[in-house]
Parts: sequence; structure tokens; C-alpha cells
Amino acid sequence: MTKNQNTEELKRILIVGSGGRENSIAWALSKNQSIEQIYVCPGNGGTTNFEKCICLKPKHEDAKTIIKECQRLGINLVVIGPEVPLAEGLADKMREEGLTVFGPGKDGAQLEASKEWSKALMIENNIPTAKYWSTGSKEEALEILKRFNQPLVIKADGLAAGKGVTVCETIEQSKEAIKEIFSGKFGSAGNKVILEEKIEGPEVSIFALCDGEKLIVLPPAQDHKRLLDGDNGPNTGGMGAYAPALLINEKDLADLTELVLNPTLKGLKKKKIKYIGVIYVGLMLTSSGPKVIEFNCRFGDPECQALMPLMGEEFASVLFACARGEIEKAPKLTFNSECSACIVAASKGYPESPQKGNKVNIKVESNLSLQVFHAGTTIDEFDNIITSGGRVLSIVAQGESFDKAFDFAYSNLKRISFEGMHYRKDIGYQVRKF
Ligand code: AMP
Ligand code: GLY
Repeated sequence: MTKNQNTEELKRILIVGSGGRENSIAWALSKNQSIEQIYVCPGNGGTTNFEKCICLKPKHEDAKTIIKECQRLGINLVVIGPEVPLAEGLADKMREEGLTVFGPGKDGAQLEASKEWSKALMIENNIPTAKYWSTGSKEEALEILKRFNQPLVIKADGLAAGKGVTVCETIEQSKEAIKEIFSGKFGSAGNKVILEEKIEGPEVSIFALCDGEKLIVLPPAQDHKRLLDGDNGPNTGGMGAYAPALLINEKDLADLTELVLNPTLKGLKKKKIKYIGVIYVGLMLTSSGPKVIEFNCRFGDPECQALMPLMGEEFASVLFACARGEIEKAPKLTFNSECSACIVAASKGYPESPQKGNKVNIKVESNLSLQVFHAGTTIDEFDNIITSGGRVLSIVAQGESFDKAFDFAYSNLKRISFEGMHYRKDIGYQVRKF
């Protein structure tokens, strides 16, 4: 049976993933009145807090099983949240079975899954980025370092759950990082290493929704990667975010679209890749202009949690149109003009060895200007919310100024508690008055 894609209505969505990102996407999609049901596979302890949202937990989470479930449930749109299933080709397998998917195939996911591949794409398309060298040999990497005679940023080529990058202060540290990668710390992700010139400047993330041909640019966001206040401590997946990032104004965003996003899409098309999904660009604004630090093939977490409350109700229709390769048929995506603030509450021991199994007390409910998005939570047999991961939840608030949004988020965070709860007190310091 061939589906008539153009007249198919969007009623049932399946979101793949279990984090705060997927929880916030589910919340944003649920605002669309015509949607009947949103399944999150596997979801988390907060999935069912939102109208129309339920967890889907098949016995196995392999592609074949999830595809069968999509067919059984009559899913009209699949949204794949995390990078690992994208890099493994889940979107390709789903499309082969006739499903409509928002998320790139294995080819496009290389933007994130191979730093060497994405660096080459940047160079081929004149996209500004830090100078780099790549090699599959430890000896050659050490030789490059010796020749350069300066500390270099050392990166494992493949996916390493955000842990594969070491920004080194000394040559000795760079040496150690190279040895670590080749000792197998990151498995096959470390078969190759990228050595990169260290660049400096504030960081900002930009996002575009793509249908393979065209793109829609979203408001920029700023993440806070370090664990502790003052940008100290180890790197994490992200301890908070805010949007829109004021470092970039509308004109800058238009310039960055020309400088980075359009050439990226063009470069992908030259490689015959129909890229459907999010292009996430991590940028550093250096004294010699913006440079791309990294590409990701999905929404950032927690940037997504800050962004989702800014999306108009059309968001679901826009993702559906992208997934069908017809962005021009989507209603115009509108953005709430407020400021959005997101703070992550993490477990004791995060990011190294987060404590799990603690009861979470939440005395605040999500609404249109305040959201509690769950990430590392589950529900026990007594209906208690229990911590099950490092980043437990994000609290997100919107206001007419960043001061108002952050005050609102922080004051409500006091109504949430669990043993060992940790959060940064200075998220958004770039845009708040202290
Ligand atoms: P990535 O996992 O590629 O996002 O890198 C993690 C973090 O490392 C980035 O957010 C930057 O803060 C830092 N970083 C990555 N590449 C560079 C570079 N070439 N120069 C300075 N800092 C970098
Ligand atoms: N917050 C950074 C990321 O999602 O990669």
C-alpha cells in the first residue's frame, strides 16, 4: 500500500529517547491541538506528566521492534532525539519501511559521528573552523604535537558521549590525551584522533530545521558545559542554557546562515545526502570571526529544553513537513519573543559516577511559562519519582527579561528536592544582573 503523504494528517507521533530533550520536545508537540497521542520510547518518569504523552517500552529497543510498534500504532511521524540511534542508521531503517522520520540518516549523522568527516566538510565548503590535523596513528599524533610545539585540543573522532574532547593547557596534557585515546578509552570512537588549534571566545549554539533542501533557523542558545559556578570543574553534557542568546543579533544570525548553515546544507547535498533533521552548530566567536567548534545532528540537551517553550503551536506541523521534504508547505513557525531560562538539577557524583535511586520531591507543575522537564528519572512501584541518571531534571521558565525568567526558575527550583541535588547558581550570568 502506498501512502498518500500529502494528505496524511498528523495525529500520532513517536519520539525516540529518554532525556530532558525528548521530554521537552514531547511537551512542545503536545501543544498542537490536532495531535491525539505522543509516544516516547522509552521515555522517563516525567513523560506522562504532559497531556497526550505516554511511554512506549517494548521488550527490546532494537530498530526492528520499534518499527513494528510504529506500524502497529499507526505513527505518522517519528522524531529521533539522540545521536547514537541516528549514527546507527535508525532513520534509514524506518524510512525503508515507509515511516516519516525527522532525523538524518546514517550518512548525514556523520556530521556529529565523525569529527574528521565534519572537519573535511567544513574545509571543502569554506566554513570557518579551527586548524586541525587528523591521524589514526599515535606516533604520528605525537609527532604533529612535537612539530606544532604548543598545547593542542585533542578529540576522539567518533561519538564519546561528550567526553572525547580535552582542551589542554600544556603540551604534556595534549600528550596524555593522545595516549588515552589510543589506549582504547573511547573504544572504536578513538581509532582516529583530531588535533586542533586552540581558539578562544564566547560560545553560542545555532540550530536549523532541515527538510533536505531548505532550512528554518531557530533562535540561538547558550549552553553551560562546566559542572560548577564560574565555568569551573569538569565538562558535562550541560548544566543549563538560555535562549535567545543575546551574543548574536538578527543580522548576525542572517550572516551565520550565509557563512555556515547554507554552505553546510550545500556541502551535504553535494555528497548526495538528503539531510532531514536538526543541524546544530557549536560556534566560538573569536577575535578573527565566528568559527565552528562542532556540528551535532540533533537538538542540544539542555538547549532544547530552553528552546521548546519558545516554539509556536505550528512546531509539530513544521517537523512533519520537514520529515516529508516539504518545508514550504508548513505553516510559518512563530517564536515566543520572551526570554527562556533552563537550569539542570543533577545528582551527586555527576558527571563521573552519579548516585541513583533517590526519591525526588516535586511541588511544582508545568504550565505555559514554567516547565519541569524530566531526564534521569523513573517511577517505582509505589508511584514515587526516583533518580536514575546524572542530569535528573531541568526547570525552565520564561519571562519578559532574563532576570525575571531566571528568578522565576530559581525560586521554583526550591520546590524540588532529592538527596545530593546539585545545580549551578549562575546559569545565564552572561545576561543577568547580579
Ligand atoms: P565538543 O565536544 O566538540 O563540543 O567540545 C567540547 C568543548 O571543548 C567545546 O564546547 C569547547 O568549549 C571546547 N573546544 C572544542 N574545540 C575547541 C578548540 N578548538 N579550541 C578551544 N576550545 C575547544
Ligand atoms: N549541550 C550540548 C550538547 O547537547 O551536545
